Amino acid sequence: MRIIHTENYEQLSRQAANIISAQIISKPNCVLGLATGSTPIGTYKELISRFENKDIDFSEVTTVNLDEYCGLTPDNDQSYRYFMNTNLFNHVNVDMAKTNVPSGIADDPQAECERYDNLIESLGGIDLQLLGIGHNGHIGFNEPDDKFTKETHIVKLGDSTIEANSRFFDSYDDVPKSAITMGIKAIMNAKKVLLVASGKDKQEILKKSLFGPITPNVPASILQLHPDLTVVECE
Ligand code: F6R
Repeated sequence: MRIIHTENYEQLSRQAANIISAQIISKPNCVLGLATGSTPIGTYKELISRFENKDIDFSEVTTVNLDEYCGLTPDNDQSYRYFMNTNLFNHVNVDMAKTNVPSGIADDPQAECERYDNLIESLGGIDLQLLGIGHNGHIGFNEPDDKFTKETHIVKLGDSTIEANSRFFDSYDDVPKSAITMGIKAIMNAKKVLLVASGKDKQEILKKSLFGPITPNVPASILQLHPDLTVVECE
């Protein structure tokens, strides 16, 4: 495990963008696993500016996102598809047909979970997976549980996650109560994992995840077993 401590959010964003840029440069047709949330926004801004400076090229890149809220259509401005389009995809030369976010409105959610796992497998897995971390240790929407769930699955969101994410909605009641998330298997099978964590409020869960017991009660703790994990953090 490599931990890069940075002085502030701007530096964190540059470091994370360096690692993602290196991946794109060394393998132009790579598969990037992407995350939403506040933490990667600066990283995405950095990637956009590197694209504008012609330092990186997304034309052959394929992306697979971690998760999506159930019940939100892609054009809903709170959906993760909308987030990815507005924070990254619309600003770089990625082929939209090669960007993948699980659907939160599939008629058959279980079939959608299976489709997503098959898709990741057919792409040959993920080269670099970007992750944020929830205050309860969730990665993607793999919430604390008494077991790790390997496959893409539908998850009932925990109160602390709904509470944390309510900052993006008008009220707590507006936050969807369930989501579809990539499972632990696809995340752990990624060749490289890059975890970004920003703020004093993330330090405790970060320590617990990286140095505490490996337990499904702290889903991110499984990352201790990943052979190529880089953590970029700032307080
Ligand atoms: C988002 C995701 C979540 C977030 C986590 C941290 O796709 O999968 O696990 O990474 O909730 O979110 P922020 O960065 O907003 O603190």
